[in-house]
Amino acid sequence: MTLIQPDKKVALCSDHAGYELKEVIKDYLLSRGAAVEDFGTFSGESCDYPDFAHPCAEAVESGRDYPGIAMCGTGNGIAMTLNKHQGIRAALCWQPELARLARAHNDANILVLPARFIEPQAALEVIEAFLSTPFDGGRHQRRIDKMPL
Ligand code: RB5
Repeated sequence: MTLIQPDKKVALCSDHAGYELKEVIKDYLLSRGAAVEDFGTFSGESCDYPDFAHPCAEAVESGRDYPGIAMCGTGNGIAMTLNKHQGIRAALCWQPELARLARAHNDANILVLPARFIEPQAALEVIEAFLSTPFDGGRHQRRIDKMPL
Protein backbone atom coordinates (compact mmCIF):
# COMPACT_ATOMS: atom_id res chain seq x y z
CA MET A 1 0.00 0.00 0.00
CA THR A 2 1.25 3.46 -0.74
CA LEU A 3 -0.26 6.88 -0.30
CA ILE A 4 1.27 7.92 -3.58
CA GLN A 5 -1.49 8.22 -6.17
CA PRO A 6 -0.97 8.36 -9.94
CA ASP A 7 -3.09 11.51 -10.37
CA LYS A 8 -1.58 13.49 -7.49
CA LYS A 9 1.74 15.05 -6.64
CA VAL A 10 3.50 14.85 -3.31
CA ALA A 11 3.71 18.39 -1.91
CA LEU A 12 7.11 19.37 -0.50
CA CYS A 13 8.15 22.42 1.47
CA SER A 14 10.94 23.52 3.77
CA ASP A 15 12.81 26.54 5.03
CA HIS A 16 16.58 26.99 4.66
CA ALA A 17 17.27 24.53 7.51
CA GLY A 18 15.36 21.83 5.68
CA TYR A 19 16.45 22.69 2.17
CA GLU A 20 19.15 20.02 1.76
CA LEU A 21 16.95 17.28 3.20
CA LYS A 22 14.10 18.36 0.96
CA GLU A 23 16.34 17.89 -2.07
CA VAL A 24 17.31 14.38 -0.91
CA ILE A 25 13.65 13.52 -0.41
CA LYS A 26 12.66 14.96 -3.77
CA ASP A 27 15.27 12.83 -5.55
CA TYR A 28 14.10 9.76 -3.62
CA LEU A 29 10.43 10.29 -4.51
CA LEU A 30 11.22 10.98 -8.16
CA SER A 31 13.34 7.80 -8.30
CA ARG A 32 10.30 5.90 -7.01
CA GLY A 33 8.21 7.28 -9.87
CA ALA A 34 6.25 9.76 -7.75
CA ALA A 35 5.40 13.23 -9.01
CA VAL A 36 6.26 16.09 -6.68
CA GLU A 37 5.22 19.71 -6.32
CA ASP A 38 8.00 21.63 -4.62
CA PHE A 39 6.88 24.82 -2.87
CA GLY A 40 10.43 25.77 -1.88
CA THR A 41 12.55 27.08 -0.44
CA PHE A 42 15.04 26.68 -3.25
CA SER A 43 18.35 27.49 -1.54
CA GLY A 44 20.05 27.46 1.83
CA GLU A 45 19.56 31.21 2.22
CA SER A 46 17.77 32.24 5.40
CA CYS A 47 14.01 32.53 4.95
CA ASP A 48 10.70 32.25 6.83
CA TYR A 49 8.98 28.84 6.87
CA PRO A 50 5.38 30.19 6.71
CA ASP A 51 6.07 31.56 3.23
CA PHE A 52 6.42 27.96 2.01
CA ALA A 53 4.17 26.14 4.46
CA HIS A 54 0.98 28.03 3.60
CA PRO A 55 0.97 27.30 -0.16
CA CYS A 56 1.95 23.69 0.54
CA ALA A 57 -0.92 23.33 3.02
CA GLU A 58 -3.36 24.89 0.56
CA ALA A 59 -2.38 22.39 -2.13
CA VAL A 60 -2.98 19.42 0.17
CA GLU A 61 -6.12 20.95 1.68
CA SER A 62 -7.63 21.49 -1.78
CA GLY A 63 -6.87 17.90 -2.79
CA ARG A 64 -4.59 18.89 -5.66
CA ASP A 65 -1.59 17.29 -3.94
CA TYR A 66 -1.42 14.31 -1.58
CA PRO A 67 0.29 13.68 0.75
CA GLY A 68 2.73 16.41 1.86
CA ILE A 69 6.19 16.22 3.35
CA ALA A 70 7.58 19.28 5.13
CA MET A 71 10.66 20.11 7.16
CA CYS A 72 12.41 22.88 9.01
CA GLY A 73 15.20 22.76 11.59
CA THR A 74 13.15 21.31 14.43
CA GLY A 75 9.99 20.63 12.45
CA ASN A 76 7.99 22.60 14.98
CA GLY A 77 7.59 25.94 13.25
CA ILE A 78 6.52 24.47 9.95
CA ALA A 79 4.18 21.95 11.65
CA MET A 80 2.53 24.72 13.67
CA THR A 81 1.99 26.74 10.52
CA LEU A 82 0.62 23.82 8.49
CA ASN A 83 -1.79 22.91 11.27
CA LYS A 84 -3.39 26.37 11.14
CA HIS A 85 -5.21 25.04 8.07
CA GLN A 86 -8.45 23.27 8.93
CA GLY A 87 -7.93 20.42 6.49
CA ILE A 88 -4.37 19.69 7.49
CA ARG A 89 -3.17 17.11 9.97
CA ALA A 90 0.59 17.59 9.99
CA ALA A 91 2.57 15.21 12.21
CA LEU A 92 6.14 15.75 13.41
CA CYS A 93 7.87 12.36 13.26
CA TRP A 94 11.49 11.31 13.74
CA GLN A 95 11.08 7.54 13.96
CA PRO A 96 9.22 5.12 11.64
CA GLU A 97 6.85 4.05 14.43
CA LEU A 98 5.74 7.63 15.01
CA ALA A 99 5.01 7.97 11.30
CA ARG A 100 3.12 4.68 11.25
CA LEU A 101 0.93 5.80 14.15
CA ALA A 102 0.43 9.27 12.68
CA ARG A 103 -1.09 7.55 9.67
CA ALA A 104 -2.94 4.69 11.40
CA HIS A 105 -4.44 6.77 14.23
CA ASN A 106 -4.40 10.38 13.01
CA ASP A 107 -4.76 10.04 9.24
CA ALA A 108 -1.94 12.58 8.97
CA ASN A 109 -1.83 14.15 5.53
CA ILE A 110 1.50 15.94 5.92
CA LEU A 111 4.60 14.34 7.40
CA VAL A 112 6.93 16.81 9.12
CA LEU A 113 10.60 16.03 9.70
CA PRO A 114 13.10 17.76 12.03
CA ALA A 115 15.85 18.34 9.47
CA ARG A 116 18.55 19.34 11.97
CA PHE A 117 17.89 16.28 14.14
CA ILE A 118 17.59 13.42 11.67
CA GLU A 119 20.02 11.83 9.22
CA PRO A 120 18.85 11.61 5.59
CA GLN A 121 18.73 7.79 5.60
CA ALA A 122 16.64 7.78 8.78
CA ALA A 123 14.33 10.38 7.24
CA LEU A 124 13.75 8.10 4.24
CA GLU A 125 12.84 5.26 6.59
CA VAL A 126 10.32 7.54 8.33
CA ILE A 127 8.91 8.47 4.93
CA GLU A 128 8.55 4.81 3.94
CA ALA A 129 6.59 4.07 7.12
CA PHE A 130 4.37 7.08 6.50
CA LEU A 131 3.67 6.26 2.86
CA SER A 132 2.97 2.58 3.48
CA THR A 133 0.50 2.85 6.37
CA PRO A 134 -3.26 3.13 5.82
CA PHE A 135 -5.60 4.93 8.21
CA ASP A 136 -7.29 2.55 10.66
CA GLY A 137 -10.59 4.49 10.75
CA GLY A 138 -13.17 3.42 13.33
CA ARG A 139 -12.69 5.11 16.70
CA HIS A 140 -9.86 7.16 15.23
CA GLN A 141 -12.21 8.70 12.65
CA ARG A 142 -14.57 9.74 15.46
CA ARG A 143 -11.69 11.53 17.20
CA ILE A 144 -10.58 13.26 14.02
CA ASP A 145 -14.16 14.42 13.44
CA LYS A 146 -13.94 16.23 16.79
CA MET A 147 -10.77 18.16 15.89
CA PRO A 148 -12.22 21.20 14.07
CA LEU A 149 -13.19 24.15 16.29
C1 RB5 B 1 15.58 28.26 11.54
O1 RB5 B 1 16.74 28.73 12.14
C2 RB5 B 1 14.73 27.52 12.53
O2 RB5 B 1 14.23 28.36 13.52
C3 RB5 B 1 13.60 26.80 11.83
O3 RB5 B 1 14.10 25.98 10.84
C4 RB5 B 1 12.72 25.92 12.69
O4 RB5 B 1 13.48 25.06 13.47
C5 RB5 B 1 11.68 26.62 13.46
O5 RB5 B 1 10.79 25.99 14.07
